Amino acid sequence: MWNYEKRLQFPVNIKEPNAKLAQVIISQYGGPDGEMGASMRYLSQRYATPYREVAGLLTDIGTEELAHLEMVAAIVHQLTRNLSMEEIEKSGFAPYYTDHTIGIWPQAAGGIPFNACEFQSKGDVITDLFEDMAAEQKARTTYDNILRLIKEPDVCEPIKFLRQREVVHFQRFGEANREDCRIQVIVYLLSHICIIKAFRQRFDYGPNHRIHLLQGANPYRQNAGIRHTPDAAPIRCRAGAEKGRSCRKAVADFPAPFLKTLSERAFYAI
Ligand SMILES: [Fe+2]
Repeated sequence: MWNYEKRLQFPVNIKEPNAKLAQVIISQYGGPDGEMGASMRYLSQRYATPYREVAGLLTDIGTEELAHLEMVAAIVHQLTRNLSMEEIEKSGFAPYYTDHTIGIWPQAAGGIPFNACEFQSKGDVITDLFEDMAAEQKARTTYDNILRLIKEPDVCEPIKFLRQREVVHFQRFGEANREDCRIQVIVYLLSHICIIKAFRQRFDYGPNHRIHLLQGANPYRQNAGIRHTPDAAPIRCRAGAEKGRSCRKAVADFPAPFLKTLSERAFYAI
C-alpha cells in the first residue's frame, strides 16, 4: 500500500499560463517516454523478478515516478488554468480543449493517447532491467528536448529536477543489472558444479589453459560457444570412446542445456 503526502516532490509555482508549453510538456504525462509509462513499467515488472533487492528497487523507483507524474500534471494544469478563449485559439490548444476542456488526460505532444504498449513487463529480470535503463535515457532525452523549447525559469526549474532524477534512475538500474548478472552466474555455477567437475576430468589441459564459453554463442553449433587461449596446445579427451579426440569436436557432445544456460547468461571461463 502507499501513503500519500500532500505535497509535490519539487515545488511547481508557475505565474503565467502558456498553453503552447503545456502541449509540449504533456508528453511527459502520457507520451511514449513519459512518467505514466515509467511508473506502470516498474510497478508491473517487480512481481516477476526473483531477487528481493531488484523488486525493492523497482517499487522504489516506480513510486517516485508516480510523484513525477503528479508534478507533470501540476505543471500542465498551472500552464492551462485561467486561459481566455482567445489564448486557447491562438496557441493551438483548441483541439485538446474540445475533448478535455482543461482536464489532465494522458497523451503525447503529438496528441496520441497513452498506450500500455509503450512499456514492457517481460518476466525476465535482465531483459526488464535493460529496458528500464533505455527508458530512463529516453525520458532524459525528452526532458532535454523540452528544455530546449522553453525559457521560462518557473517552468524550467521543475523540468530540470525531473531530468536529473532520470539520470539517477539510469545509474541505479545499471547497478542492479550488474549485481543481478553476478548473482545469476553464481547460481548457475553452484547448480552445475558436478558438470564442471566432469568437464575438467574429461579433457587434458595445462594449468594455464582456459576455455571460454562465450556469451550469446549458439551451443548447438559445434564449438560455437568455445574459445581457447591462443597459445594453448590442442585439447584431447583423456579416456573412453572419445580418447584422443579434439575438444573442439568432443564439446559438441557436451550436455547442451548446460552450455546453453551458461552461454545465454555470462562470459565464463573454466
Ligand atoms: Fe525515471
